[in-house]
Amino acid sequence: MSTYNFLIVERRGPVAVITLNRPKALNALCNELTEELTAALDVTEADDSIGAVVLTGSAKAFAAGADIKEMQPKSFTDVYLEDFITASWERASTTRKPIIAAVAGYALGGGAELAMSCDMIIAADTAKFGQPEITIGILPGAGGTQRLTRAVGKSKAMDMVLTGRTIDAEEAEKIGLVARIVSADDLIEEAVAIAQKIAGFSRPSVLMAKEAVNSAFETTLAEGMRFERRLFHAAFATDGQTEGMAAFLDKRKPTFNHR
Ligand code: CAA
Repeated sequence: MSTYNFLIVERRGPVAVITLNRPKALNALCNELTEELTAALDVTEADDSIGAVVLTGSAKAFAAGADIKEMQPKSFTDVYLEDFITASWERASTTRKPIIAAVAGYALGGGAELAMSCDMIIAADTAKFGQPEITIGILPGAGGTQRLTRAVGKSKAMDMVLTGRTIDAEEAEKIGLVARIVSADDLIEEAVAIAQKIAGFSRPSVLMAKEAVNSAFETTLAEGMRFERRLFHAAFATDGQTEGMAAFLDKRKPTFNHR
């Protein structure tokens, strides 16, 4: 895979592991880093041999937010004209393949927002989440008032966004922000194992399931139910349904061709 300045991209079977790698700034999300992340996700999306992605950082920081040094001199006109936070921050949320955030250490500001733009968060017991933008005179700008509120409800979101309070992994799991907590030593192995399991299922059904869950955030219950049913019906047109159900009845493991 290509070489990046601020990312390491590795393959673990059908899983791509993208590691944010800007240790001197605790993986602060500078322009170059987010542009590289967009490019790396374009590659994983286009590669048929990849079924799922793990996005991670270092033991100390998943990412400590947008780059404050880069932002500090900007005026309203600057950020408005360049539409900062730009589209490059949204790429994780627009991937069709499942993407898991494996978070150890700080996931603050844009770092928490990046993790929330993935499909699920697996947290090390060392993980710390927060939206500290209020402490530097701004507010979250990459989904911290929106995805966080949908994930944890109004009261907790207000608590985090208005006070800038950082929460630990245990509290994050309790309020539904993270899917699972694992020991820091096992974080990557556990996240990769989950991603490999997902990548092993029939790809059309995986993509449809992801699309259906995501529609719950965008539409009414009635519309979402209708959309789910249409995708459910569509799954019967896939090789995966034929093979999956036949294998169950034959009492053997299915071999999916991802068609
Ligand atoms: N941007 C730029 N540089 C950052 C950074 C950031 N968000 N976070 C950390 N760094 C840099 C520090 O400036 C420091 O660099 P130097 O060694 O050159 O001084 C280096 O990373 C190490 O950081 P600390 O010395 O501060 O490390 P620490 O262990 O004492 O503290 C921390 C860790 C609590 C995470 C602290 O670094 C911190 O509070 N960081 C800022 C967190 C923050 O406010 N994030 C929100 C940014 S705004 C945003 O994200 C907007 C949005 O919604 C998109």
